[in-house]
Amino acid sequence: MSVKPLRVGLAGIGTVGGGTWTVLNRNADEIRRRAGRPIQITAVADLDQAKARALTGGQVRFVPDAMALARDPEIDVVIELIGGYGFAKDFVLEAIRNGKHVVTANKALLATHGNEIFALAQQKGVMVAFEAAVAGGIPIIKALREGLTANKIEWVAGIINGTTNFILSEMRDKGLAFDVVLKEAQRLGYAEADPTFDIEGVDAAHKATIMAAIAFGIPMQFDAAHIEGISKLQAKDIAYAEQLGYRIKLLGITKRHANGVELRVHPTLISSKKLIANVEGAMNAVWVKGDAVGHTMYYGKGAGAEPTASAVIADLVDVARMLTADPANRVPYLAFQPDQMAALSVVPIAQVQSCYYLRLRVKDQPGVLADITRVLADGQISIDMFFQREPDEDLHETDVVLITHLCLEQDMRAAIGRIEQLPTVLGQAVMLRMETFA
Ligand code: HSE
Repeated sequence: MSVKPLRVGLAGIGTVGGGTWTVLNRNADEIRRRAGRPIQITAVADLDQAKARALTGGQVRFVPDAMALARDPEIDVVIELIGGYGFAKDFVLEAIRNGKHVVTANKALLATHGNEIFALAQQKGVMVAFEAAVAGGIPIIKALREGLTANKIEWVAGIINGTTNFILSEMRDKGLAFDVVLKEAQRLGYAEADPTFDIEGVDAAHKATIMAAIAFGIPMQFDAAHIEGISKLQAKDIAYAEQLGYRIKLLGITKRHANGVELRVHPTLISSKKLIANVEGAMNAVWVKGDAVGHTMYYGKGAGAEPTASAVIADLVDVARMLTADPANRVPYLAFQPDQMAALSVVPIAQVQSCYYLRLRVKDQPGVLADITRVLADGQISIDMFFQREPDEDLHETDVVLITHLCLEQDMRAAIGRIEQLPTVLGQAVMLRMETFA
């Protein structure tokens, strides 16, 4: 008996769209055996018509306007690979209004407009699948939403931006400054011409927002995320951290507490003995702590044509398998039933507890350390480790580096304010957060 194919409209045939086309064709037989029906891209929309036609060899219908895919009665599911949240949002909403299922890799769109998109999708009884939106080829959405469904998830922490992990790895390996490595990363194609979203932590925050929503059953709250990137990070701090047994990674972290969730992206010191500290280059890794399973970790490529296509096609197979299921019996968009979402909001960063790395430039003279440690003691901040560099003889100055035990961020900031007022402390302190994952 022949089964009707799943008819797919592909909006955007760039790197990921091209990879999706290639893998769907190369593995068509395996995919059909798994999905129970063939999955066929029947129409493609892209601004670059010549490229689209060259890639597909003229085998599919080409439409110049993606909106035509959203309204096409001959299409069951659209893949949105347009990017951004302008036209892409209108396209996704229009497809949903027309009863189409949606597969998207668009983390920015979901983190900022996901609540509206999922509400409309639920009303229309269609699926919105987004495995490719977080950590590319790593099936972390599947893991959080289905594999770990028995667990009360306690926290998720991930290296979820390959560009910044590549830059940090190079800075550490070669002792180079951020700007130098960024230029090299751009030359090699690891960083985009406008790298702002990657280097300033915005891309990672989009992904962390999505993971927080699925892990804890909360709405998308991107606007409340605390975001710091790596552009101000100095090679010196990477080197000092290493001397103390730590590596610095840009982590997306989300943790559950009784009264709210933490949602933050920032450079983070991690013990170099931890597995995640050894994830190097452009690779991604996500570490999840569940109350029943304990620690689990997921590692792989977070970007690239075929790794991301792997996730897009997994979503297509899910759509093919669940097409005829009653919408109420499908896996909920955000892992929890829509009427069972929690009203937990994001805790302000001032209320977050962390350990801290501090670097201070100080005059090399008696009493300096006593003054600094007095301020910390007065703020009830306990020191865990301490390190002082050889003084610069000519300048009579030196760097003091210390790591604290857990304390409240607002207490740490208050203490730093007082330390910077000390006459023997020169310039501004460098403050980085440290995670033990205990
Ligand atoms: N630009 C991202 C990264 C990949 O560097 O990991 C897509 O989100």
